[in-house]
Amino acid sequence: MLSIAINRAKVLKPKPPQDKLGFGNYFTDHMFEMDYTEGRGWHDARIVPFGPISISPAAMVLHYAQETFEGMKAYRTSEGKIQFFRPLENIRRLNKSNKRICIPEIDENDFMDALRAVVNIDKDWVPSAEGTSLYIRPFTIATDEHLGVRASKTYKFYIILSPVGAYYPEGINPVKIFVETEDVRAVRGGTGFAKVGANYSATIRAQHRAEDKGYTQVLWLDGVERRYIEEVGTMNVFFKIGDEVVTPPLEGSILPGITRMSCIEALKSWGVKVSERRLSIDELFDAARSGRLSEAFGSGTAAVISPIGELDWDGERIAISGGKIGELTHKLYDFITGIQWGKIKDEFNWIMPL
Ligand code: COI
Repeated sequence: MLSIAINRAKVLKPKPPQDKLGFGNYFTDHMFEMDYTEGRGWHDARIVPFGPISISPAAMVLHYAQETFEGMKAYRTSEGKIQFFRPLENIRRLNKSNKRICIPEIDENDFMDALRAVVNIDKDWVPSAEGTSLYIRPFTIATDEHLGVRASKTYKFYIILSPVGAYYPEGINPVKIFVETEDVRAVRGGTGFAKVGANYSATIRAQHRAEDKGYTQVLWLDGVERRYIEEVGTMNVFFKIGDEVVTPPLEGSILPGITRMSCIEALKSWGVKVSERRLSIDELFDAARSGRLSEAFGSGTAAVISPIGELDWDGERIAISGGKIGELTHKLYDFITGIQWGKIKDEFNWIMPL
């Protein structure tokens, strides 16, 4: 059991109204913090009041982006119980991200103890309104005061908590997506599969261009041939073409989403044909033109299951499911969120109670 020192906040903040949460706007009263020092490992686990942190302006994370993070959620059931969705998957993925950019891994049991402790101390912040949850953001940063390019010898690990509603203002209504043809997000051999902050800053320029044209997000194509569909950046993507559901394979440049994995497992258990295979943008648009593309959706912790109602590729626009949520997409949304909020029996063993 990880030994965690607790320094409680003297003044607790008022809770925000649950119908106005949005995503990532509010933070709870406490956070978890732990340090790493070379030769000593991770140490000084503690829970402290949520607030500004102090690092050197020369801290390596600020210059070379040696940083990893996770996104996971805790849910309040109708009986008031609090539960996590597949937390070990996030813990393992953070460690894979850490390995990729030479940050020391965190013991899985210690991580889980930290998670339980910090959510428990702020459990009154887990919202109960329909569609809300407590978003959990663990992250590691390199803190050596040094400007040479190398791995840091000191780090900090935090877990901060944010009560959230829907990620997209559209909620469960379909989003419009712009197919990006200029910038690329990642290439194999790079960091596309890892959850590192730098992957996300590279996407903001394209995101702005898409927003200026009235789209919510961009769809990324592979960085080599610029043909194969990868992901949206805040979510993995699925397309129903004929009777097959297609999602891009995990070949190193896209994020191995935990909601993605759960969708695949659920669809397969329902007897739906799911293919993790390369899908070119030409094949997708051909399928749309010939009426075989019937549904499209994104999956992610923040985005949950988000129907895609329109795609724009080089000026050609296709409407999917008549701009409405498709039948299978809806079924998946109800199923995944039903398990998360404890409304449906968890036959897959995805839930871990607080
Ligand atoms: C998540 O789904 O948790 C993500 O990490 C997306 C995030 C960058 C908003």
